[in-house]
Amino acid sequence: MARLPAGGRRIGVIGKGGSGKSTTCGHLLAHWTAEGTPAVGIDADDPGEQEDGSLYAWSDIADLGGPVYRAPAASRLADEVRRLTPAHGIGLIDTGAWERKSGNRHFAVLAASDLVVLAVQPTPIELERAGSVLKAMEQLEAVGVAVPRLLLLMTMVNRSASSAKETREDLTAAGFTVMRTEVPRSDGRDGYAQAFGRTPRIDPGSPMAMLADELLDEVTR
Ligand SMILES: Nc1ncnc2c1ncn2[C@@H]1O[C@H](COP(=O)(O)OP(=O)(O)OP(=O)(O)O)[C@@H](O)[C@H]1O
Ligand SMILES: [Mg+2]
Repeated sequence: MARLPAGGRRIGVIGKGGSGKSTTCGHLLAHWTAEGTPAVGIDADDPGEQEDGSLYAWSDIADLGGPVYRAPAASRLADEVRRLTPAHGIGLIDTGAWERKSGNRHFAVLAASDLVVLAVQPTPIELERAGSVLKAMEQLEAVGVAVPRLLLLMTMVNRSASSAKETREDLTAAGFTVMRTEVPRSDGRDGYAQAFGRTPRIDPGSPMAMLADELLDEVTR
């Protein structure tokens, strides 16, 4: 397995409210650390928002493998994320609901990341959201900030419905890169819907395990 560079890599996770960002982040931390890649979480969910269900709150009550820190204000975020990212490891930034408002923390997260993962649910409206993220990156580029690569991750995918395939096709046709791995909607007793507050299950071959591998490949290459 190729090694991450000494400075590590930073991955920002963005997307609409309730798209599964924090659930995914918790599992990624657990899988990476279980497989020997040091990883820390940085929770950039806006303060004042409901703490319950946040990555930070989860790490307080369960073992996610690596520690989770609260992100500082936008102006200090990039430096802090760089400082917290372990050597040869991953700094994973979780965010609140995506909003394109210049100067907000989402912009700071884009600027601090080497790779941005946009969580999208299988609905046509997500094409618009992806466009909004792209616009934010263009705004950053216009002021001289190096913009990260953008990957789209399909979440809450209902395996029996055709909507995921259509969303994937629409997004791909629009020029976006959609990750191979999809996070299925899983509402069962041991499903991802029940994961908050528990230690994530490390299941080789599970969607979260495959996602951890695919993302690690993406930041290692
Ligand atoms: N793959 C999944 N299948 C079913 N339910 C899920 C899945 N992932 C997350 N959930 C549930 O959906 C809700 C939202 O998930 P989560 O908190 O991870 O989303 P989020 O994007 O972090 O939300 P927010 O924008 O509010 O931070 C939670 O109740 C969670 O348990
Ligand atoms: Mg969240």
